[in-house]
Amino acid sequence: MPLVTTKEMFKKAYEGGYAIGAFNVNNMELVQGIVEAGIENNAPLILQVSAGARKYAKHNYLVHLVQAAVEECNLPIALHLDHGDGFDICKACVDGGFTSVMIDASKYPFEQNIEITRKVVEYAHERGVVVEAELGKLAGIEDDVNVSAEDSCYTHPDEVEEFVSRTGVDSLAIAIGTSHGAFKFKGTPRLRFDILEEVSRRLPQFPIVLHGASSVMPEYVKIIEQYGGQMPGAQGVPEELLRKAASMAVCKINIDSDLRLAVTAAVRKHLYENPTHFDPRQYLAPAREAVKEVVSHKLIHVLGCNGKA
Ligand code: G3H
Ligand code: 13P
Ligand code: ZN
Repeated sequence: MPLVTTKEMFKKAYEGGYAIGAFNVNNMELVQGIVEAGIENNAPLILQVSAGARKYAKHNYLVHLVQAAVEECNLPIALHLDHGDGFDICKACVDGGFTSVMIDASKYPFEQNIEITRKVVEYAHERGVVVEAELGKLAGIEDDVNVSAEDSCYTHPDEVEEFVSRTGVDSLAIAIGTSHGAFKFKGTPRLRFDILEEVSRRLPQFPIVLHGASSVMPEYVKIIEQYGGQMPGAQGVPEELLRKAASMAVCKINIDSDLRLAVTAAVRKHLYENPTHFDPRQYLAPAREAVKEVVSHKLIHVLGCNGKA
């Protein structure tokens, strides 16, 4: 099966009350671990590439890695640009084999966000590519953009209908209290489900996206700290909150930090237990296996998309 867009997978996810996992990739082990979990659980997948990942691994390498994965399995897989910060990077990904792009102009005022998003939508739709946009700002760090907690703001539900109708965007990322990275909450984690409900009331049947949705799985934080790492205060989104979001209008849940933690935990543990190893395959194989385990866990216990391919 060739790469697909997210259209069909979101439609089924919305109707079925589950969500699709969007996992960030920047090397072969991540692609393989995620796809192996997808095969094992017969789940649709979104593999996403940030601007930083594209700079690190290079566009063509990532596209070919994902294409190789698609040839290895018969799953619906979308290749998505994560947090495109302008028309040029979105265009490069539309022209260069991606089936979905995110234009993240959420840092701009409303009218400018609409203008930039609409330009990307026009270009992408003419070429059969779908577009995600964002309204509201998440706290945290994406590439070079560091949004402080004070600067982050929840999505205003009264803006969403106008935004979607004037841009023609296919899905919308909203800010309801999640944030990027491994340090998401200082106190008790809380998500604004009232905002999600109001957004979905105003946009019936419309796919909503949740960024910053790693749970910062305590088992991996514990291993990292046990083998010399330091992550005091690490905290993510509790899984039951994500499950609730997935049963509502949220059709895409973005997960990156949990994969990073799993890889780091596996590598640290392996090298500690095998101090003489220096062949990268010796520690990258357990890292790949850890990615597969995390993704399997997410597909079954968080997203509910196992068996939905
Ligand atoms: O939203 C951010 C993703 O986790 C990507 O992170 O920009 O460091 O590749 P990155
Ligand atoms: P996490 O940092 O919570 O994994 O979020 C990833 C993300 O939103 C990618 O766009
Ligand atoms: Zn994000």
